[in-house]
Amino acid sequence: MRVLVTGARGMLGRAVVAAAPAGAIVVGVDRDEAELSNAAAVAELFAREGSVGAVIHCAGYTAVDAAESDEAGAWRDNVDAMREVAAACARTNAAFLGVSTDYVFDGLADRPYRENDTKSPASVYGRSKLAGERAARTVHPKGTRIVRTAWLYGPHGGHFPQTILRLARERTELKVVADQRGSPTSTLELAPVLWELLDAPPDVYHAAGDGDATWFDVAQATLELAGVADVGVMRCTTAEFPRPAPRPPYAVLDCAKLEATIGSRLRPWRVALADYLENHE
Ligand SMILES: NC(=O)c1ccc[n+]([C@@H]2O[C@H](COP(=O)([O-])OP(=O)(O)OC[C@H]3O[C@@H](n4cnc5c(N)ncnc54)[C@H](OP(=O)(O)O)[C@@H]3O)[C@@H](O)[C@H]2O)c1
Repeated sequence: MRVLVTGARGMLGRAVVAAAPAGAIVVGVDRDEAELSNAAAVAELFAREGSVGAVIHCAGYTAVDAAESDEAGAWRDNVDAMREVAAACARTNAAFLGVSTDYVFDGLADRPYRENDTKSPASVYGRSKLAGERAARTVHPKGTRIVRTAWLYGPHGGHFPQTILRLARERTELKVVADQRGSPTSTLELAPVLWELLDAPPDVYHAAGDGDATWFDVAQATLELAGVADVGVMRCTTAEFPRPAPRPPYAVLDCAKLEATIGSRLRPWRVALADYLENHE
C-alpha cells in the first residue's frame, strides 16, 4: 500500500517514515513538495502519487508561542492543511490519520484526560489543532483517525531533553518548571503505533508515554540517565518563566482506549527516555 507521510522532514514525520512496516511504499511529503493548505496543490499531489491507500498527517504548525501572534499561520497549517488532506483522502477512499495534541484540553483536570473529555484549549495552537481535528472528521467521517500525543522528543528534532543536555554543558545549575505535568513521548515509540492505528476503527485515540512527569522530573531523569552528575536542577514555577502561550498545567493523556484497540500502550516514559538517550544522544 502507498502511504503518504506529511511533515516528513519534521521530528515525528521522520520517525514515522523510518518506522514504515514491510510492504508499505512510503512517500514523504513536506512543504517543498506541496503546500498542503492549498486544495489544488493537494489534488495535484494525490494525482501525481497515484493510488494512495493512506496518509499519516504529521504536518502542522508547532511553534506554540509564535502561534499567539500568527493566528493565520497556525490556522493555515493546523486547520486548512488537515482539512484539505483529509478531504483528498475522502475523495480517493484513503485512510487518514491526523496527529493532534494534549493542548486541546485546558489542563485543569485532576485525572488523565480521556478522548471525549471537554475540550477547552487556552492557546491559539490548541484552538487550531482542535479545529483541525474537527475539520478532518467532518470532511472524512468514515476514514479519519485522530491521535493526540504530547511532549514529543526524538532523534530528529530540537526538544526538551536535548535542550537540557546542552544547557548542562553551559551551566552548573538549571531552573526547571515543576508545576506543569504531562506525558513525555518518544517519537520512536509513537511512530510504530501510528502505523498500527491506520488499521483501527476511525476514532480519536490518545497515545503518549506511560505515566506522567513534570518538566523538572524529565530534566532530572535526563541528566541522571545521561550520567551528568555535576549540574544541579532547581524547581521553579511557570509564572517565573512567562511565555506568550499558556500551557495546560495538567496535560496527562489516558491511553486506555489505545491499549484496548491495539493490545498495548507506549512504555513508561522513563524507560523510553533511557532507551533514547542510550541510542541517540
Ligand atoms: N512536538 C510536540 O511536542 C508535539 C506534541 C503533541 C502533538 N504534536 C503534533 O505532532 C505533529 C508533528 O509535530 P512535530 O513536532 O514533528 O512537528 P515539526 O517538527 O514542526 O514538523 C512539522 C512539519 O510539517 C510541515 N508543515 C507544516 N505545515 C505545512 C503545510 N501547510 N504544508 C506542508 N508542510 C507543512 C513543516 O514544514 P515547515 O518547516 O516549512 O513549517 C514541518 O516540516 C504536529 O501535528 C504537532 O501538532 C507535537
